[in-house]
Amino acid sequence: MSYQVLYRKYRPKKFSEIIGQNHIVGTLMNAVKSGRVGHAYLFSGPRGTGKTTIARILAKTVNCANLSKISGGNIDDKLSVRRSEAKADSYFFEPCNSCELCLDFNESRNLDLIEIDAASSRGIDEVRELREGARFSPSRSKFKVYIIDEVHMMTKEAFNALLKTLEEPPAHAIFILATTEPDRLPLTIRSRCQHFHFWRPSVNQIIERLKFISREEKIKAEESALRLIAKSASGSMRDAESLFGQVITLEDKEIKKEEVEEILGVAPSEFVKNFLRHVSEKDARSAIHLVGRIYDEGYDLGEFNKNLITDLRHLLLLKIDPKFKTVLKEDLTSDEIEELEKMVVVLDAKNLENGLKIFLEANQNIKKFVYPQLALEMAVVEYCGIV
Ligand SMILES: Nc1ncnc2c1ncn2[C@@H]1O[C@H](COP(=O)(O)OP(=O)(O)OP(=O)(O)O)[C@@H](O)[C@H]1O
Ligand SMILES: [Mg+2]
Ligand SMILES: [Zn+2]
Repeated sequence: MSYQVLYRKYRPKKFSEIIGQNHIVGTLMNAVKSGRVGHAYLFSGPRGTGKTTIARILAKTVNCANLSKISGGNIDDKLSVRRSEAKADSYFFEPCNSCELCLDFNESRNLDLIEIDAASSRGIDEVRELREGARFSPSRSKFKVYIIDEVHMMTKEAFNALLKTLEEPPAHAIFILATTEPDRLPLTIRSRCQHFHFWRPSVNQIIERLKFISREEKIKAEESALRLIAKSASGSMRDAESLFGQVITLEDKEIKKEEVEEILGVAPSEFVKNFLRHVSEKDARSAIHLVGRIYDEGYDLGEFNKNLITDLRHLLLLKIDPKFKTVLKEDLTSDEIEELEKMVVVLDAKNLENGLKIFLEANQNIKKFVYPQLALEMAVVEYCGIV
C-alpha cells in the first residue's frame, strides 16, 4: 500500500472515533436516530479539529444503507451523550463503512457528496451552479450533501445567492458550511444554520488518539514524548498527527521525549523549569546564562518563551484559585501540577502577572530583534528588577 500521511490515514470514519467534540457528536447522533437531521449546518472552530471529518461522517450516515446499531450503554462515557439517553437499552447509529454507498463516500467517489472550497470558488457563478445542481435529486443516495469549506471567503453576492438556497432547501439536500472564522459570515446565513462550535481537544485527548495510532502502527512511544507532541500542536489534531508522522519516520523502536525535542527544536523542558526558578529567585545572571545556552545549542527561543508563558499562566491560575487544578489536569500530568504547586507558594499574583506582561512583550521582540536572545535578556533584567 502506498504511504499515506497519518492525518489522512487516521481520519475518523465514524462518530465514535472522534475525540473532543462530544457536544456535537452526541447531538448529531440523536438527530440521525430521530430522523431529524437538519438541512443546513454551520461548523466553526479552530483548524484541524474535525469539521470536515464530521461533515463527511454525517454525509455518510444519512445515506448509509445498512446503519449499524450501537448500544447507548457502550458509548456513555466516550460520547457523553446525556446520561438519561444513554441507558443500556438505548441505541445510536453509526455508518456501517461497508455498504457500497459508505465505501464510495470513503473513497470520495460519490457524486452525491459535493465538496466545495470557497477559498478558490468564492463567486456568484459557483453558487449559481450549486443552486442549479441542488435542485436535481441525488443520483444514488437519499441525500445530496454539500460541504462548503472556508465558507467565510465567499463574496457578498455569493452569500446572497446561497442564502436563497438555505431559505428553501430542497428536501433531498443538506448543506454543511465549515469555517474557522464564523464572525465573517453574514448574520442572515448564520441564522439559517444549526451552528456547532468545535472545541480544541485537550492535551490528554490528543495523547489518547496518538496512543491509538501508535498501537495501530505498532510503534512504541514514551508517554512524555506523546505529551510533548500534543502540547506543541496547540489544540489541532491534524498538527499533532503531522508531527507524529515526522517523528516516526525515524524508524525507531521506541520514540523518546529527547528525540521529539530535537525534531521540534524545542529546548528540553528542564530548561524552562530552571529558568523559572532562576528568575523567581531574582538570579538574573544564571537566567541570562541559560538564554545564551539555549541560543547556542540551536533551540528555538520563541518556542522556549512560549512554553515559559504557558507555565507562568498555569502558575497564575493556581495562585488565583487552587481549584483550577482540575482544569490543568486536562493538559498536565500530576507530577507537573505538583511541581507548579510547589513553586506557586513563593510567588505572588502581582509578580506573576508582571512576568506574563514582560515575557509576552519579549515574544514580540524575539521576532523583531536582530539578536533574538536580547529580547529575553532584557526581559530577565526587567523581571528581576535590576533596572
Ligand atoms: N476531533 C477529531 N478526532 C479525531 N481526529 C481528528 C479530529 N479532528 C481532526 N482530526 C484529524 O485531523 C485531520 C484533519 O481534520 P479535519 O480536516 O476534519 O479538520 P478541520 O477542522 O476541517 O480543519 P480545517 O479548518 O483546517 O479545514 C483528520 O483527518 C484527522 O486525522
Ligand atoms: Mg476542513
Ligand atoms: Zn454503510
